[in-house]
Amino acid sequence: MNTDDTLEIFLVTAPGLETALCTEATKKGFRAAETSVGGVTVTGGWPDVWRANLELRGASKVLVRLGAFRALHLAQLDKRARKFPWDNVLRPDQPVRVEVTTKKSRIYHKKAAAERIERAIAEELGAEISADAAICIKVRILDDMCTISVDTSGEALHKRGHKEAVNKAPMRENLAALLLQECGFTGSEPVVDPMCGSGTFPIEAAEISLGLLAGRSRTFAFEQFATFDEAAWQEMKKQGSTPTLAFHFYGFDRDAGAVNMSLANAERASVQEFTEFRTQTISDLTAPNGEPGLVIVNPPYGVRISETKRLNPLYQSLGHVLKSGFGGWRVGLVTNSDKLAKATGLRFEQNPTSFSHGGLRVKLFKAQVLPKPNMHQPIVT
Ligand SMILES: C[S@@+](CC[C@H](N)C(=O)[O-])C[C@H]1O[C@@H](n2cnc3c(N)ncnc32)[C@H](O)[C@@H]1O
Repeated sequence: MNTDDTLEIFLVTAPGLETALCTEATKKGFRAAETSVGGVTVTGGWPDVWRANLELRGASKVLVRLGAFRALHLAQLDKRARKFPWDNVLRPDQPVRVEVTTKKSRIYHKKAAAERIERAIAEELGAEISADAAICIKVRILDDMCTISVDTSGEALHKRGHKEAVNKAPMRENLAALLLQECGFTGSEPVVDPMCGSGTFPIEAAEISLGLLAGRSRTFAFEQFATFDEAAWQEMKKQGSTPTLAFHFYGFDRDAGAVNMSLANAERASVQEFTEFRTQTISDLTAPNGEPGLVIVNPPYGVRISETKRLNPLYQSLGHVLKSGFGGWRVGLVTNSDKLAKATGLRFEQNPTSFSHGGLRVKLFKAQVLPKPNMHQPIVT
């Protein structure tokens, strides 16, 4: 195994959530975490790369920088790519594909650059080049500098391997995890999602609370690398804390189909004992018995002004049930419209976190619902 402990590891996430991911990476013991656009850079060895894929809930990909060289023209790219130590990481028996981006460089033709690199890998290493290979080499040519990275995750990390069934506009698991963290959720309080769709928030919250590893049920591209150590990986996967739960995670939706999906997804994630899903419209929502916790929700949101107007009563109704029945609870509301957030009548904190979700800019609005004054208390004069 390569024991180099100074790999540059790039954790990709949605633009706007880099600081949240940096917080998670630091908490989970990754070294020298630093944010940049679209992600966080940490330093470590190959076991840290495996652990990042396995444990980090907020990353969508884990990339490793393999090296860099200057290339002013295609013949130079070809020559330097042939000398690149591909066999440090790649195996001749595993197919590979190459993706190239170029910016402010004399080499501007992505396809021609990709062909040179593919040929170098095929002829020098002996690996097959295939458009649907699980292993992807990412090449970025910027200011004539060619940086070569490998995607160690394969399929994006929000695909934990449990959510086969999805409703319309599902929240990605990695975003849900970071939004829960942004709302101060650490695993030790109940969570309610009154419009849960396929159940992403309650399932993610239950997994966090149970100390389950995010990537426990799936495979990763790095398992096909020359640097992979199967025994060490199996040992790493055995960890995970013992659950000590005293609360539940609730999801409601007016759509019975969505509720059935949530139930099936929770079962696949092995959190069915700790989650409850029910078909229910927002106007019937009441707080579960016991200690208050967190309500987190991404209601439907519109792109056009007419859609936003049509949704106003739904947000008003949400605000009304939360203010009247959820005293003492915190609220996290995800929407793309300040007007719809305002329609709830909740007093949101200033400067909501803004991030990119499905090509739209959305915000996480946070509020604390004040407990209702006790009407039966005697007035002391
Ligand atoms: C954007 S989706 C939520 C996606 C969800 N977070 C997920 O990860 O799948 C909004 C959900 O709100 C539900 N919904 C819309 N109006 C509702 C209402 N009045 N009461 C309860 N649920 C409602 C829809 O059925 C839909 O599943």
